Amino acid sequence: MAEYLVTGAAGFVGSKLANKLINDGHHVTSIDDLSTGSISNVPEGVNFIQADCSDPHIYKSLENKSFEAVFHIAGQSSGEISFEDPIKDLKSNTQSTLLLLSLCKKINCKRFIFASSMSVYGLNNAEHVSEQSKCTPQSFYAVGKLASENYLNIYKKYGINSTALRLFNIYGPGQNMLNLKQGMLSIYLAQFIDKEKVIVKGSGERFRDLIFIDDVIESILRCTDNTDSYNEAINIGIGKKITVQNIIDSIRSNLKSSKTVEFVEGTPGDLHGITACTKKMDKILGKWDKVGLEQGLRSMIEHLS
Ligand SMILES: NC(=O)c1ccc[n+]([C@@H]2O[C@H](COP(=O)([O-])OP(=O)(O)OC[C@H]3O[C@@H](n4cnc5c(N)ncnc54)[C@H](O)[C@@H]3O)[C@@H](O)[C@H]2O)c1
Repeated sequence: MAEYLVTGAAGFVGSKLANKLINDGHHVTSIDDLSTGSISNVPEGVNFIQADCSDPHIYKSLENKSFEAVFHIAGQSSGEISFEDPIKDLKSNTQSTLLLLSLCKKINCKRFIFASSMSVYGLNNAEHVSEQSKCTPQSFYAVGKLASENYLNIYKKYGINSTALRLFNIYGPGQNMLNLKQGMLSIYLAQFIDKEKVIVKGSGERFRDLIFIDDVIESILRCTDNTDSYNEAINIGIGKKITVQNIIDSIRSNLKSSKTVEFVEGTPGDLHGITACTKKMDKILGKWDKVGLEQGLRSMIEHLS
């Protein structure tokens, strides 16, 4: 049994991770400011601290703790929203990382797992990106994630073994269906369910590498004690191209919906599409059968009904 710090346990990914750790018999402390998360998502048994991870004052109360690992999952999670207040995004996504790394140094916690993003690659000629591909971030959010990754590298010299998981597009039950600016599949699904028509910002030819939430949690857990993942950035995706039109068609056929879909101008910083080269992920974390789009989408729809 270990004690872990999981930031963001009121959100989509953090709540699923905290839940799994608790079910496996571990102790979990979480910091979340409930800016996008909901207290109802926080699993029972979590020592919950409602606070902003970018506030330096909150860490005093944790200095007597001994965490086996810190999973830094909390953060403003939308590229689109990062354009509304870049400074806020910088604090939420970058300052928080720096403060948590500094806490690790103080309390001698040697393991740090960070929820980075595929958006760090930005504009890239290749559609299929490996961890060696050039990073040219196109949103404030992506710049913040890449900066955080660089901070992890600096803290390596203090003996903190970190892993940056470059998460591709996650979907699944528990995703925030009210946030229409984050999560491509959930945005369309929410509109198919609740709106008169479905608005798609950008072309239907754009594509994403969609990964089901359970496979993301599996990756994080496989990473935790895995020394091969120390001080590495790893793509977490499926490696398959799914176009916006494919997503729309799948949702439409699953819901048997005849709603109108209107394509409008795209959002700043939005990428046409990239997929993950998963060679490094497979090599370090091992292979397992991943959930496909149809199965994942059905379980998401069942969860909503
Ligand atoms: N969902 C995806 O497709 C995806 C893809 C790539 C990367 N990521 C990253 O994974 C992480 C989790 O994403 P998610 O989908 O669960 O998002 P989410 O919005 O559901 O969860 C984020 C949680 O962090 C909390 N939070 C935000 N800023 C905070 C702050 N400054 N201090 C404390 N708590 C704060 C929110 O209240 C929320 O509970 C994020 O860092 C995101 O950037 C997500």
